[in-house]
Amino acid sequence: MDHHRTPLFTALQQHAAGDPLQFHIPGHKKGRGADPEFRSFVGDNALSIDLINIVPLDDLHQPAGVIREAEQLAADAFGADYTLFSVQGTTGAIMTMLMSVCSPRDKIIIPRNAHKSILSAVIFAGALPVWVEPEKDARLGIEHGVTLESIRQAISRNPDTKAVLLINPTYYGTCINLRQMVEFIHSCNIPVLVDEAHGTLLHFHERLPMSAMQAGADMAATSVHKLGGSMTQSSVLNVKGDRVSIKRIRTFMSMLTTTSTSYLLLSSLDAARRQLALHGQALAEQTIRLARDARRQINEISGLYCYGDEICEKEGVFHYDPTKLCIHLDQLDITGFGAEEWLRKTYKIEVELSDLKNLLCLITLGDTEREVSRLLQALRHMSELFRCREIPYTRACAAIVPAASRFSLPPRDAFYARSESIRLQQSIGRVITEFVYVYPPGIPILMPGQIITPEAVDYIRRHLKAGLPVKGTEDPDIQKLRVVAAPRQESEALGSRSGYIIPD
Ligand SMILES: Cc1ncc(COP(=O)(O)O)c(C=O)c1O
Repeated sequence: MDHHRTPLFTALQQHAAGDPLQFHIPGHKKGRGADPEFRSFVGDNALSIDLINIVPLDDLHQPAGVIREAEQLAADAFGADYTLFSVQGTTGAIMTMLMSVCSPRDKIIIPRNAHKSILSAVIFAGALPVWVEPEKDARLGIEHGVTLESIRQAISRNPDTKAVLLINPTYYGTCINLRQMVEFIHSCNIPVLVDEAHGTLLHFHERLPMSAMQAGADMAATSVHKLGGSMTQSSVLNVKGDRVSIKRIRTFMSMLTTTSTSYLLLSSLDAARRQLALHGQALAEQTIRLARDARRQINEISGLYCYGDEICEKEGVFHYDPTKLCIHLDQLDITGFGAEEWLRKTYKIEVELSDLKNLLCLITLGDTEREVSRLLQALRHMSELFRCREIPYTRACAAIVPAASRFSLPPRDAFYARSESIRLQQSIGRVITEFVYVYPPGIPILMPGQIITPEAVDYIRRHLKAGLPVKGTEDPDIQKLRVVAAPRQESEALGSRSGYIIPD
């Protein structure tokens, strides 16, 4: 296919250049009706292609023209049979994946460190999650992938499971042996869905871990906006093979998508695909080189540790994405969150995320040596200021999300159950009806239906104390949680009356 072409982006430019008289939305009409300061800042070019699904510009909900062509080119670039553009982020693509394979009461195997979008989809679908614990890294205090053995056990205990969802890479950049995993799951006749939010570049460089499509997965939700150069909120859903139904996938994607799809976002996907298909390999090469160099230098800074090749010796890690710098504040007397704030205030540097003991910095297609050297300068300064000789290692473990507690009710039943708000310290043993997560990374500590454990409450408290962003609850201060109004025994009786068998 000719990847120099950008059918959608080109059609938009030509349409705008034709200067048609518009009697349709958006009401700003080429920017003339927009706030003048906003217009002058954003620019007339951007506003002139902020258009809507009029006939010449095709319709994302039933693409038959330039959007279909753009999606076909993207499918070719990502090695998929079909690519669907998403203007609802990877969240929309993940919800589509899950809802297209799970009906109410269907089981789906999900790693414990799943993003909240996956678990929200579980509630919408009325599905039953079967947790698989990912491997924990006690030194870094983070989680890696799930093992083949844990998936094997989950399937053998739940042979009626409708799908397995895998996360590859993790937010912190480690990857599983995806091909081996996909082959095994397919041998059980079960489709594999991959949350590839952090893996857009994988497909474009042979030294990066394998992409979901290369590994033969059935579907992958990929955040082109995160690492592939398109605009925020634009993602793709890649689909391959015939274990899943493209018609059903399209139906769900349409149901979950605004009817006013942003053509700025869609055309940025078209253009990002062109850049990735034509120059992805060279751009990734340069990014990998920059990141490898940065990693080497970070490891020379006293008190810091940025994992590299040796991470592949850990359980749950087969490969890693070197462009993600997970900087462990090994021997510094500052939390990751404190370090994030210090970098912001002292050096005007913004990182991707921080937790109790790590900073995550992403090196992307947009970086050069200049940015990397500024980061290194700041990290050296931070090390001088906060270096401390004796930090107990136990502190590092604090960032690991506690093991998933048992479900007492199906998540959707709990979400809709009659509930009451009670104080955090009195909530242990009760059944929660809302999500609690730290964002980023957005991995729920608790989700509706789970029994609140002392470990979960302790984890929430420690994160609140460290000033980390705990979110998801109705009470913004997280002093109270919403729980099923009935005590746990009654909730469980309700659960069993509803025919719910708690999956192992
Ligand atoms: C692992 C993971 N999955 C899914 C998502 C959702 O992606 P988006 O923000 O594009 O909706 C995120 C977002 O940070 C994520 O970290």
